[in-house]
Amino acid sequence: MCGIMGYVGPQQAGPILIDGLRRLEYRGYDSAGIAVTNGVINVRKARGKIANLEDILSSDPVTGSIGIGHTRWATHGAPTDANAHPHTDPTGEFVVVHNGIIENYQSLREELASQGAKWSSETDSEVLAHLVAREYDGDLVAAVRRTVALSEGAYAMVVMTKREPGKIVAVRKISPLVVGLGDRETFLASDIPAVLHHTRDFIIIEDDELVIVTEDGAQVETIAGEPVDRDPIHITWDAERAEKGGYDHFMLKEIHEQPAVVTETLAGRLDEDGTVWLEDVAFDDDYARAIGRVWITACGTAYHAGLIGQEIFRRVLRLPANVEYAHELRYADPIVSEDELTIAISQSGETADTLAAARLASERGSRLMAITNVVGSTLSRYADDIFYTRAGPEISVASTKAYMAMLIAQYLLALRLGAARGTVEPKVAQDLARGLHRMPGMLEEVLRREESAIAAAEAVKDANDVYFIGRGLDFAIALEGSLKLKEISYVHSEAMPAGELKHGTLALITEGVPVVVIMTQRSVYDKTISAVQEVKARGGRIIAVAYDTDTEIEHHADIVLRIPDMDDLLAPVAAVVPLQLLAYHVARLRGHDIDQPRNLAKSVTVE
Ligand code: M6R
Repeated sequence: MCGIMGYVGPQQAGPILIDGLRRLEYRGYDSAGIAVTNGVINVRKARGKIANLEDILSSDPVTGSIGIGHTRWATHGAPTDANAHPHTDPTGEFVVVHNGIIENYQSLREELASQGAKWSSETDSEVLAHLVAREYDGDLVAAVRRTVALSEGAYAMVVMTKREPGKIVAVRKISPLVVGLGDRETFLASDIPAVLHHTRDFIIIEDDELVIVTEDGAQVETIAGEPVDRDPIHITWDAERAEKGGYDHFMLKEIHEQPAVVTETLAGRLDEDGTVWLEDVAFDDDYARAIGRVWITACGTAYHAGLIGQEIFRRVLRLPANVEYAHELRYADPIVSEDELTIAISQSGETADTLAAARLASERGSRLMAITNVVGSTLSRYADDIFYTRAGPEISVASTKAYMAMLIAQYLLALRLGAARGTVEPKVAQDLARGLHRMPGMLEEVLRREESAIAAAEAVKDANDVYFIGRGLDFAIALEGSLKLKEISYVHSEAMPAGELKHGTLALITEGVPVVVIMTQRSVYDKTISAVQEVKARGGRIIAVAYDTDTEIEHHADIVLRIPDMDDLLAPVAAVVPLQLLAYHVARLRGHDIDQPRNLAKSVTVE
């Protein structure tokens, strides 16, 4: 995720901006830049680490006490010097940094190009600088308002012009933005930790608000122009906690980011009627119609996401689909042919086994699609088609929000293939689209119920073994819940289809053994209840994940983790969240290093 900084005050802006960008490094980035004004706007930017930018500044310094800065995490266009922010209009009088996505940037680019615009980058962000300049008639705030009215998407942008010195104007449309209030100096940032060592007094900018920042403070308005009277908050957290957004661990922060991740991953890609737009997917409808089979390959949590994809492709598209562990597929002498699409899923895009399996499938004639979170990763370079998940950098070794984005990617892909193949009824596509658009709100609701997961964690924290069961999509979620628990709590755990329990593992169910059962698939509900009864009869303790409307489960379960009612096909997206929280809280209660669990690495780049 990109990081934003701004400064207006008596000091030199350059060092303050660089320092703030460094404190935002944990968000991940692939280029950095600043713009500082002293009558003229001077921009310096560089691909790679902030040290590269500092090298440039040491030989070509900037002076001035007003400036904006940015760390970029590539979404539109590769990580290059040219694509790094800030971006200016052609006159260099207006300068912009931007975090998020301008969904309609293509049509805006075309419109501006028809008016003579020449582009210096491949980014959506540059469009904003051109628009602000075009809309300017002596009032920067009015120009920014008009620009916002023209720009669709979820983003934050910060604008400065030499025509109105002493002022920075910023807008929040979903992407975070805070104002730090100093003594005759004011700071702007994506996140509190960037400026916490300068001030502890902050104004949090809300969605659809605009803020005018000067050295005297900040004036907040709605985008529509209504004044907003917001008291500053005083931050008492220490710097380390602040970096985690006030959460104790990155994992918990990332779990709570999931509603926003779904919004970002859907942004500009899904119409209300179920039409899907995928910018880096190059195949055409003829190819989509000719696909005879889909292979999905991945490792760990990404493999579990693939299990959900396999089921979606089979159910929604009636298309044969198989998910294979990449470390197995690469040595399985796979039979893949040209009419088969291989989808490799990897958060990092650097997992050695996944890269090897993807490459092998590609060499054997399969078209290769990457679902990855990292722009420019090795996997994305191998692939014919790419779906970037836009989950933002995931710091915790235990994957949560990247998994969530992988699920969303596969729903969108199924809708895209279904439209081409004519195998998805318009009503089904529309219902799925509505369900996906409603999902961020559903996830917020699940997250509000964290207390139930804490209660379940208290019940599980001293267990030696925990079993997870479910059927169909619920089984795939059971596997992910079990893996999460293992990797951070170090409690032994196994997941299995609910029907498999009686074929052996039931021998291990004794008094008090916790069994987590996922109960979202209505067509097999009664069958799963039979497995629950088998557990209860042996004294096992049932923790169930179930819909709000499921009253039956209360007769069987010791603890119920509730999710709102929804289409069974979409339920995995919500059902995984209480299991992530359960794993997190068990690990917390056991006092483990949650973000860096023993023996594990974030990216497994060796075989
Ligand atoms: O970067 P990748 O998605 O390819 O990583 C695959 C697995 O190593 C990863 O999902 C691993 O299982 C996580 N630690 C799970 O939380």
